[in-house]
Amino acid sequence: MNTQDKPWTGRFTAPTDAFVEAFTASVSFDQRLYQYDIMGSIAHAQMLAHVGILTTDECQQIVNGLQTIQQEIEQGCFVWSIALEDVHMNIETRLTQLIGPIGKKLHTGRSRNDQVATDIRLYLRSEIDLIQAELTRFIKALLDVAAQEKATIMPGFTHLQNAQPVTFGHHLLAWCEMLLRDKARFHDCRQRVNSLPLGAAALAGTSYPIDRHYTANLLQFDTIASNSLDAVSDRDFAIEFTSCAAILMLHLSRFSEELVLWSSSQFGFIELSDAFCTGSSIMPQKKNPDVPELVRGKTGRVYGHLFSLLTLMKSQPLAYNKDNQEDKEPLFDTVDTLKGCLRVYADMIPAIQVRRENMIAAAQRGFTTATDLADYLVRKGVAFRDAHEIVGKTVRYCIEHECDLANLDLVVFQQFSPLIDNDIYPLLTLEGSVAARNHIGGTAPIQVDAAIQRLQALLS
Ligand code: ARG
Repeated sequence: MNTQDKPWTGRFTAPTDAFVEAFTASVSFDQRLYQYDIMGSIAHAQMLAHVGILTTDECQQIVNGLQTIQQEIEQGCFVWSIALEDVHMNIETRLTQLIGPIGKKLHTGRSRNDQVATDIRLYLRSEIDLIQAELTRFIKALLDVAAQEKATIMPGFTHLQNAQPVTFGHHLLAWCEMLLRDKARFHDCRQRVNSLPLGAAALAGTSYPIDRHYTANLLQFDTIASNSLDAVSDRDFAIEFTSCAAILMLHLSRFSEELVLWSSSQFGFIELSDAFCTGSSIMPQKKNPDVPELVRGKTGRVYGHLFSLLTLMKSQPLAYNKDNQEDKEPLFDTVDTLKGCLRVYADMIPAIQVRRENMIAAAQRGFTTATDLADYLVRKGVAFRDAHEIVGKTVRYCIEHECDLANLDLVVFQQFSPLIDNDIYPLLTLEGSVAARNHIGGTAPIQVDAAIQRLQALLS
């Protein structure tokens, strides 16, 4: 490619060094923005026609040319050129090849600086909508399992030690709560993404009588960026999106950890469907939880992308700097990673098998209803600290005698406190323990049911 083929060569006498050309090009990765670039260019041309800078005929030729280019790209016959640097110059150059000198008028009143900022925002807005849809599908899948398992008892853990019995439905709803907060964060983030930079031009605005509201309206932006310097250099929205993504991945990673534990033979709480597991090349008996392990592993790259973007921005003076070209790969990979993880979980969750008998057997170990005994004594007038001490001693007796709290003889109970009576036994069952936690946010099946209804209504 000769120097003259680049749109900016007027003030240059020597061609670009071949390695520098490749080093500075972004077309290998930013070509994924093509449909947003074309959408933004069409709206810009229509705005230019609206204010009389282009004639209706010129605008129509530009729009037709851009639509042809979109087809060429989608049919795989568009030739991308590294010498033309990025998606913007590739498309603009092709436009002039296709429609002649009128194509050169498209860039009136804009710059690649406001163009690229617009493209990324259009891209991210659309990806946020897809992510929200997958996130909703995943939460709904969890709600369905929670509804089936609203009365299934499992041990609840603190410090990964058996703590108190909970219902599996309640446990799953904890994940739904986190994911709903993620949804709310993406919703808020979208509002800040949905602001139009176009019109800022290179940095200072433009001397043409442009109508930014007209463009914003065509592209369905809610607001227009109100300072041109900020408009071309702001990448907060990308950082904000990636931080929402990092928090979501944190949640997915913790959930993955539980799936890995639960599907181990030590826990045996669930079985993942064969379609979502792989085997070992040497150990014939193995069925490995690769999907949750990979989701857990992929969390690291999203954290890395967040840090890349924060670092990318931290030393940039106003306004646009070429550093910003480095925003795309972290952003694209964050989007791809998130969509992949959400899709695989939304597909996998309905197919998990719950091993209720193993969950309940596990809950029976570790004196998980000891707190219920203490609460019973408090209701009989004992101070909680004294009740704690009495129950601690009773548990020690059970450990020494290898027996269970729920089956101790009344006479033995009464050695620890004469206040204990026959009415203690139903309270020490797992069912009695969970049913007693009957308030908003508690683990009782009746509350799980009500919570599921609330969450389903939120998502409908
Ligand atoms: N490829 C560039 C980017 O991604 C487009 C903007 C280039 N602007 C410039 N003045 N060199 O940021």
